[in-house]
Amino acid sequence: MDKVRIGMIGSKFAADFHADSHARNPYAEIVAIAALDGLEEYCEKWNVPDSTTDYKELCRRDDIDVIDVCVPNFLHHEVVMEAAANNKQIICEKPLATTVEDAKEMVEFCKKQGVLLFYAEDWVFAPALVRATELIKEGAVGDMLWVKAKEVHNGSHSPFAQQKKYCGGGALFHLAIHPIGFVRYLFGEPVTEVTGWVTGGEDKNFYHKNYTGEDWGACMLKFESGRYAFCEGNYITVGGMDDKVEIYGTEGRLNIDLTFSSPIQAYSRPGFEYAIEKTDTTKHWTWPAVDEFANLGYVEQLRYFIDCVRKNEQPKFGVSAEDGLAAVEICMAAYESAETGKVVKGKF
Ligand SMILES: NC(=O)c1ccc[n+]([C@@H]2O[C@H](COP(=O)([O-])OP(=O)(O)OC[C@H]3O[C@@H](n4cnc5c(N)ncnc54)[C@H](O)[C@@H]3O)[C@@H](O)[C@H]2O)c1
Repeated sequence: MDKVRIGMIGSKFAADFHADSHARNPYAEIVAIAALDGLEEYCEKWNVPDSTTDYKELCRRDDIDVIDVCVPNFLHHEVVMEAAANNKQIICEKPLATTVEDAKEMVEFCKKQGVLLFYAEDWVFAPALVRATELIKEGAVGDMLWVKAKEVHNGSHSPFAQQKKYCGGGALFHLAIHPIGFVRYLFGEPVTEVTGWVTGGEDKNFYHKNYTGEDWGACMLKFESGRYAFCEGNYITVGGMDDKVEIYGTEGRLNIDLTFSSPIQAYSRPGFEYAIEKTDTTKHWTWPAVDEFANLGYVEQLRYFIDCVRKNEQPKFGVSAEDGLAAVEICMAAYESAETGKVVKGKF
């Protein structure tokens, strides 16, 4: 297969960084897009020749190899099922689905249809985390013991992410799912115990009383070998998106900063257009990102998925459909634990 022909579903935030990544790949081509709004701007910006408001139309087209799912979480299930029914390969943004049942059905149906389903956990491809993983393999920290990781910012731009019925949860589900997926990939083994805490949504939230999902959530994970990880997601952090990972081992430690590690330190009185995701000012001291999409792993992730499609290869551990399912299971176990005050045991 020379060029992989992509049907993009969604036109906004995620669809934009997916398009940016595909534009850097000579083997990727977006042939059409389906979304409810923003079609004209998207087609013009990314040179996409065709558009529709009906995603099912895209799924039926013979000139499309891959459906790239960049719609709100509650639509992942129906779009993936439709794409699989039409024998398309599928890239699905995180989280895989809003319930464990839906995620299981997607995994099983894609397997039955013999189509590839890629779970877009970009942290697996973030260059700093890839380098950290290499250092660990070279023995830099001895035996890994425990990890602390978080994705936090001041609130989602998407109205769908703010409401539990569309999102499937709150900050734990929408943001902490990145560290959860990455640590599981890093340790290379299942989670066996989950303890969770969340603010609880609306009046119980710390700050975002209009969000029905929690605005702060965290979970402690115990892995099969007895190692632990603490993962956090919150919408109460001002000053820009803060993605950090700390890895502790018997012989060393690694501190990784995905979003505040720009080589540029800027001081500006008037400010400028953009520094990093979710900052509300560019005045005074800031750390303007240099290629944010690459730093967060999107570019390499999408190049990898397109490569798998060209070679008809299953995704590796960490970004398979089953890994997407496990991440949903872990989040739901954390919610159960937060509700009951008990540790939830299983094999995720
Ligand atoms: N990996 C990451 O770091 C990351 C970052 C942001 C978002 N995401 C994920 O990407 C997905 C989209 O998030 P977003 O922030 O771009 O959302 P958004 O709210 O900014 O955009 C939603 C898009 O979906 C389209 N849409 C809604 N209903 C539709 C329908 N029935 N048919 C076709 N199109 C429809 C809208 O027209 C819009 O273009 C979510 O699942 C989110 O979790 C991932």
